Amino acid sequence: MNMFDVEKIREQFPLLTQKVNGKNLVYLDNGATVQKPLRVIEKIKEIYTEYNSNIHRGVHYLSNKTTEAYENARETVRNFINANSTEEIIFTKGTTDAINLVAFSFGEKYIKKGDEILIAETEHHSNIVPWQMMCERKGAKIKVIPADNNGELILSEYKKLLNKRTKLVAVAQVANSLGIINPIEDIIYEARKTGAKTLIDGAQAVQHKSVDVQKLDCDFYAFSGHKTYAETGIGILYGKKELLNEMPPYQGGGDMIKSVSFEKTEYTDLPLKFEAGTSNYVGAISLGEAINFINSVGIEKIEKYETELLKYAEEKLSLINGLTIYGKSKNKTSAVSFLLKGIHFYDTGMILDKLGIAVRTGAHCAEPTMKNFGISGTVRASFAMYNTKEEIDKLYEGLLKVKNMLL
Ligand code: ALA
Repeated sequence: MNMFDVEKIREQFPLLTQKVNGKNLVYLDNGATVQKPLRVIEKIKEIYTEYNSNIHRGVHYLSNKTTEAYENARETVRNFINANSTEEIIFTKGTTDAINLVAFSFGEKYIKKGDEILIAETEHHSNIVPWQMMCERKGAKIKVIPADNNGELILSEYKKLLNKRTKLVAVAQVANSLGIINPIEDIIYEARKTGAKTLIDGAQAVQHKSVDVQKLDCDFYAFSGHKTYAETGIGILYGKKELLNEMPPYQGGGDMIKSVSFEKTEYTDLPLKFEAGTSNYVGAISLGEAINFINSVGIEKIEKYETELLKYAEEKLSLINGLTIYGKSKNKTSAVSFLLKGIHFYDTGMILDKLGIAVRTGAHCAEPTMKNFGISGTVRASFAMYNTKEEIDKLYEGLLKVKNMLL
């Protein structure tokens, strides 16, 4: 595909052609999960009809074939985020699982009483709760990088919070509830100066913009398969090899061992040290295929197109009297969060649903962000490469109808 041809892209997504409540579906809940292209669906079918077998265990044909596909997917992920080595790519259940892995394993090795972890005010719960649990276990403290009235992180405050006790800074590349792109380059640079490690939550970023973990120089990077056009239950933790080597395994079981006796178990090397039990190999292979799909479209083209969509959506929605957009920033991708004055977000969401329009309503797993704005939730429209300006027009018209009905 040379040009960005959204109609051609949509042909890859059979789910989008259905009617909901008698209307053509307008799916704008891509921040929660994206739909799957045919080639990913077909890949999953191919695995189960042609070579499904447990990985790293058999010497037989099927096992070798599945193992090869699984390890090829790891190489595809490595290349996608430009990691140095496939040993640095750990398959997890998703972003949450990847963050929990680091919170446990890095925490066990490096965190002591009185240490500090910095997270941002605009994090989603997955990048808050695992650190709270770790701090409780280890007697460490969480410090919060504040956001301004627009939801942008205040870098000068961040710099003040960094000190010798800061062991890790964990921030999202893109805030899920607002779509704001955080200045992670600066955040990583400043953390490095004080010797703190960094974890970047890329759950809402990697499907929208090009990511190069070596260039970023972050210590960890996490993302989810299901938001990246692959199956649910699969995700990635990237970690620098020297750190991952020092960290203890997160879970014990098969595939992560060299030898086991009742007296002593010897763990195996990276990356399998962190992949105990039968992995979600079908999910991993689907993620490889999803990345091949993204690459076939081109991540730069996707970014450009989705930025245009976002700009169009923000301009269009701003024409509606009484509509407030939360998270106003020049640096945004893929999501617009808003409220209609005097109308509860659930009512807006339910009427939009009657019109076939799917948006997310509520706190978006980011209660502290909502608290910062003094609200309990918003309506969030979030975009993927298959959305169109016509769909945004339908959202606009739908919101006018909501106003007419309820005000
Ligand atoms: N974290 C997901 C979202 O933003 C579920 O909707």
